[in-house]
Amino acid sequence: MSRPKITIIGAGNVGATTAHWCAAAELGDIVLVDIPQAGDMPKGKALDLMQASPIVGFDAQITGTSDYADTSGSNVVVITAGIARKPGMSRDDLLSTNAKIVGSVADEIKKSSPDAIVIVVSNPLDAMVMRAQKVTGFPHHRVFGQAGVLDTARYRTFLALELGVSVEDVSALLMGGHGDTMVPMPSCTSVGGIPVTRLIDPARLAEIVDRTRKGGAEIVGLLKTGSAYYAPAAATTQMVEAIVRDKKRLLPCAAFCDKEYGVGGYYVGVPVIIGASGVERIIELDLDAQERADFDKSVTAVKELSAAMDSLV
Ligand code: NAI
Ligand code: 2OP
Repeated sequence: MSRPKITIIGAGNVGATTAHWCAAAELGDIVLVDIPQAGDMPKGKALDLMQASPIVGFDAQITGTSDYADTSGSNVVVITAGIARKPGMSRDDLLSTNAKIVGSVADEIKKSSPDAIVIVVSNPLDAMVMRAQKVTGFPHHRVFGQAGVLDTARYRTFLALELGVSVEDVSALLMGGHGDTMVPMPSCTSVGGIPVTRLIDPARLAEIVDRTRKGGAEIVGLLKTGSAYYAPAAATTQMVEAIVRDKKRLLPCAAFCDKEYGVGGYYVGVPVIIGASGVERIIELDLDAQERADFDKSVTAVKELSAAMDSLV
């Protein structure tokens, strides 16, 4: 029996770090892809990572390439190709460049790995997932995006820091688009089973939510040369694991919602079950009035972004 084949497109910060986490967790054999102009960089990173395997103790073939023939028949493809934010740029500033890149990458995936499950990471996320699905023509449940796992992890980290408890005891959910309109769900946030609203007062919780919403920009401001990659890569790896190990994880992901939540045919962050077939179910929650208003506002932002992208490609 062969190992799952995981292709990661874009061997930059998020792509290479995702390869690192996936290899360490023995999720499968990994192909790292970058553009020909990157030269032997993906080969170098792949070889370097494989040489860590005797020390860390994992078995995986890791190869680097710019030739899609090497990716053929992949079970899972992760798209991290594109440009990242620099200080002063929003995720939406990446729209035009990354729409072209993600479109060309999706076209290659369609030809080389027609049965793959595709996880999109490139920003602006909600629009890029839409682009990847449209170009591949794959069913919606096989193309979805990573954002909610990262945003929720940031929220959980800040809550754990605030309360001085283990992150393992903080369970939370954020919905909506991957942007400043993301929707925290205090009603779905608990610490060791205790509703967060019984532990943190509303004003302080609002500050933590605000920091979460701006979590990406906070890292950009500190790094100055690019955007976050350790946590985004860990989030992406969790999704890859859910697929290759058929874990049926309940994770917030950018999934295609039509009737669900009344979205009307867009990708937006919602809780889903991820398993071997990709998005196996969308969990529909009854939103209270505030959550519904915030979610609708976030969906409007996603629709505007998608319309802007459609006018560019
Ligand atoms: P990076 O600049 O370190 O790496 C991007 C890589 O993509 C580069 O190596 C570049 O050569 C490659 N690339 C460009 N065009 C390509 C093509 N046509 N085919 C293959 N490879 C190509 O950037 P980083 O930090 O890895 O970020 C990648 C993307 O992920 C950015 O758009 C960033 O905004 C996004 N991102 C999304 C997150 C999320 O939560 N959804 C979190 C973090 C980053
Ligand atoms: C982040 O949230 C840039 O989307 C990326 O860090």
